[in-house]
Amino acid sequence: MSRKVIHKATGPVKVGDKWVCLCGLSKGWSEEEPQPFCDGSHNKARSEEEGKVYEYDSEGNAIPA
Ligand code: FES
Repeated sequence: MSRKVIHKATGPVKVGDKWVCLCGLSKGWSEEEPQPFCDGSHNKARSEEEGKVYEYDSEGNAIPA
């Protein structure tokens, strides 16, 4: 089973002394490691254009539209 989730954030939020991923691209969102901490993967989202929807595979690679 899978589902699509739209994340609009392109960076993390600081909670206490931790940076929590809001972009959805951190490998911490996987079933193996369900910790939502930022790992720097949000840099991939920085070049996204406003108004477009981007898809990424399970490895964090952008899937061409
Ligand atoms: S905010 Fe998602 S990896 Fe940094």
